[in-house]
Amino acid sequence: MPDHVLVKHVPDYIDREITLRGWVYNIRKSGKIWFLIFRDGTNWIQCVVLKNEVSEEVFEMKNTLTQESSIEIRGLVQKAPRQEFGYEILVKDIKIYQIAEEYPIALKEHGIEFLLDNRHLWLRSRKPNAVLKVRAEVENACRDFFNERDFVLVDSPMFTPNAAEGTTTLFETDYFGRKAYLTQSGQLYSEAAIMAFNKTYCFGPCFRAEKSKTRRHLTEFWMIEPEMAFYDIHDNMDLAEEFVSYLVERAVTHCPEELKILERDLSKLEKIIPPFPRITYDEAVDILKKKGLDFEWGNDFGAPHETAISEDFDKPVMIWKWPAETKAFYMKRDPEDERYVLGVDMIAPEGFGEIIGGSQREDDIDKLLARIQKENLPEEIFNWFIDVRRYGSVPHSGFGLGLERTVQWICGSHHIRECIPWPRTMVRLNP
Ligand code: 4AD
Ligand code: MG
Repeated sequence: MPDHVLVKHVPDYIDREITLRGWVYNIRKSGKIWFLIFRDGTNWIQCVVLKNEVSEEVFEMKNTLTQESSIEIRGLVQKAPRQEFGYEILVKDIKIYQIAEEYPIALKEHGIEFLLDNRHLWLRSRKPNAVLKVRAEVENACRDFFNERDFVLVDSPMFTPNAAEGTTTLFETDYFGRKAYLTQSGQLYSEAAIMAFNKTYCFGPCFRAEKSKTRRHLTEFWMIEPEMAFYDIHDNMDLAEEFVSYLVERAVTHCPEELKILERDLSKLEKIIPPFPRITYDEAVDILKKKGLDFEWGNDFGAPHETAISEDFDKPVMIWKWPAETKAFYMKRDPEDERYVLGVDMIAPEGFGEIIGGSQREDDIDKLLARIQKENLPEEIFNWFIDVRRYGSVPHSGFGLGLERTVQWICGSHHIRECIPWPRTMVRLNP
């Protein structure tokens, strides 16, 4: 018997006396009995305090214990099938670590800005706690998926002289008198790494000075980016749909309690199995036209367009074959029609927007150089990246999945900032 038990393991101790350590969530009093909802971070549980089961001193704690006071409880585990948690604790003794000051986050509705200002405390509440547990599961699933499929984890640097995803969202820093940027994507480094390791992934924070205040943009977000030698665009899409289905399945099977707290409609998630629909950019434009949306060919899709396209499908949809001008310099030209590149975006259902961006990469050195020049990117700084095409160039592909966008969709969260422990947006740097 351990010296104390975590609440999530309470079901293993039926009819036994255990010790729990954690915090007071709520207290309800009624005469000779009072109830304490207790949490220790692993779960919540109801504890029952009966006048004739505890000392006078412990019984009177109903008047001194405040929300978030830290305590140790000794008590008997009982089955309580009609109770929310299924089990309860018949309290024998309580020890106090600290009586908490008046807690700012009471058990009532608060405005979102207030909650975000108090993110350090809000993490203790049930919904944020559930979202971040789903996030942790999805992160683990990301690693497991690629580790089980011969990928090598090759981390990319956070400081870089290279702009991977356009120059408008760069965070520039002074690097001992030189110009450095915070990374927007690890992809360029992964393209070099696969020539050494065949299949790699990197997983870390990415930074973009997004000036848009949307429900889908953070300035610091996490991206997992697999990169594969000898994969064409179709192999890339096969992997992307297998990966996304795997993540959803892991969340549904490993986080049922959390998704219930979040009131997520699981029937929607259970439909996420391959194959996913694949349409070209031109076909997506036709959908918009049929729906009467205003859209000019050659532009990128905005949130309303993505939502309109996703309405036609109950699975994520992959949009591929994009006009070259809308996409990054490294994407491979479509050999069948030079106006297009072999890029792909995956749009989540239910209006959650783009969760994956990827492509087959330009493996032809002359075409790549032409694109770098056209975009006015500094050639000398990209020289190492061009080396990848000088020494044994091969067809290759990859994609990046935004962790928070994916968690937002799986949890059905209103705003992306709820899907990262410490959100950073244009207007938020605290706590
Ligand atoms: O489409 P993006 O810009 O693609 C790349 O960065 C490629 N270099 C990835 C690759 O091929 N290795 O970004 C990929 C994904 C998006 O689909 C989105 O899910 C997420 O990253 N993302 C953001 N998430 C939150 N806030 C932002 N500001 C984001 N920007 C991109
Ligand atoms: Mg994109």
